Amino acid sequence: MKTSLEDTLLAAIRTIPDYPKPGILFRDITTLLGNARAFRRAVDELVHPYAGTKIDKIAGIEARGFILGGAIAHQLSAGFIPIRKKGKLPHDTVRVAYSLEYGVDEMEMHKDAVKEGEKVILVDDLIATGGTAEGATRLLRQMGADIVAACFVIDLPDLGGRAKLEALGVEVRTLIA
Ligand code: PRP
Ligand code: ADE
Repeated sequence: MKTSLEDTLLAAIRTIPDYPKPGILFRDITTLLGNARAFRRAVDELVHPYAGTKIDKIAGIEARGFILGGAIAHQLSAGFIPIRKKGKLPHDTVRVAYSLEYGVDEMEMHKDAVKEGEKVILVDDLIATGGTAEGATRLLRQMGADIVAACFVIDLPDLGGRAKLEALGVEVRTLIA
């Protein structure tokens, strides 16, 4: 019998209690990435609605968004924009502070990574509070990107991230909750 996408992905994700802080149930996608079938199915499913659409760039959020975003950029013949934790990018950047489920940080993007009006899909492994994706949205829009959608494998719906992004006018696509 063919396993559903949801079952395949749920079975491939490992949950680690109390990481990186007490009380956090950490959804670890390294097991999904190491499972060839699950990795391919996740990427195919995220790419599927945009096949045949002109997407200029995929913006991936460090670190797990780089892995999925790189694969998606390849599939859509799009460029790739790394959105990195502060201090890692060598050229002129725009920077934003953000908070996430278990902390606060700052992220950056190169100022010349996107041109005015370019169509961009934002990619990360997971959306929880949405603070990280909201920060990335602000950076991309500051430089004139047209965000077509934000895509994630996992949604943690109780933490409200999807609603936060949708309130900014961003279409959100997730595969499992
Ligand atoms: C995780 C995850 C998202 C973010 C989601 O990244 O990969 O980027 O948290 O949380 P939020 O919706 O509450 O903002 P993390 O900051 O742990 O970085 P890492 O990928 O480098 O481990
Ligand atoms: N980022 C924010 N919350 C997370 C969680 N519970 N598991 C994995 N990554 C996360």
